[in-house]
Amino acid sequence: MKLNLLIWRQANRESKGQMVPYVADNVSPDMSFLEMLDVVNEALIRKGEAPIAFDSDCREGICGMCGLVINGVPHGHEHATTVCQLHMRHFEDGDTITVEPWRAAAFPAHKDLMVDRSAFDRIIAAGGYISVNVGGAPEANSIPIPRDIAEAAMDSAACIACGACVAACKNASAALFVGAKISQLALLPQGHPERIRRVAGMVAQMDAEGFGNCSNEGECEAVCPKEISMANIARMRREYVRAMWRGGK
Ligand code: SF4
Ligand code: FES
Repeated sequence: MKLNLLIWRQANRESKGQMVPYVADNVSPDMSFLEMLDVVNEALIRKGEAPIAFDSDCREGICGMCGLVINGVPHGHEHATTVCQLHMRHFEDGDTITVEPWRAAAFPAHKDLMVDRSAFDRIIAAGGYISVNVGGAPEANSIPIPRDIAEAAMDSAACIACGACVAACKNASAALFVGAKISQLALLPQGHPERIRRVAGMVAQMDAEGFGNCSNEGECEAVCPKEISMANIARMRREYVRAMWRGGK
C-alpha cells in the first residue's frame, strides 16, 4: 500500500506546529498503524531527519499510551480499537490520512504527536485508590460480592486512561475517565470507607486541571476503545451529590 500522510509536527510546547506531508510506501495491510509510523520514522532517520515523536508502550491495547487523532477521530474510525490495534487493512491504497495529537488545554503539547497526560495521574492521586494495610493477601472469599456487581466494577476498571474521551469532547471533559475510576471502587465494598473523600477529591482535581464540564453528548463513549459506558458519568454525579450531602469537601 502507498499512503499519503499529513502529520502534525511541533518541535516543543512553545513552538507553533503544522501539518507536514509524508508518503508511506510499501506498507503491509497487516501492519498496525504504529508499525506503519515506525517505517516512516526509519526512512526519516536514514535521511538524517528527526523522527516523528509519538507515545506507545504495550502495543496490545492495554496500557493507554498510544493516542492519535486519525482522520479527525481519536484512535481512528474502527470501533473499540486503540491506535496500536488499528491495522492498515482498514485503509485503502492511495488514501490520504491525517494524524494529529490529542488537543485539550489540560493535555499540553510535548512534541509532535505526544502530549502531557499527567493531569490524569494527579486525578488518580487525589483519591483513585483504596488504602490497605500491608501484609499477606486477604482471603479471597472473606468479602462476598454479587456477580453482577463484580462484573460492573470490572467493566469500569477496563478504562486504560488513554484520554481519547477528552480528545473527542468539545468541552474537553474528563468525566468518562473520572467516572470510570470512581465507579470501579464505588461499586465494591472495599471502596466504600473512602467513598466521600474519593469523589470530592477527584472531582475537585479534575476541575483544577482545566477539564471542561460534561454536556451529555456522548462523543466520549463513542470513541472509547474500552467501551466505557456513560452510566459511569451518571454514577460519578450520584456519588458526588451523596458526598456533598454527607459533608464532603
Ligand atoms: S474512558 Fe475510555 S477513552 Fe476515556 S480514558 Fe478511559 S479508556 Fe480512554
Ligand atoms: S500502546 Fe498500549 S494501548 Fe496502545
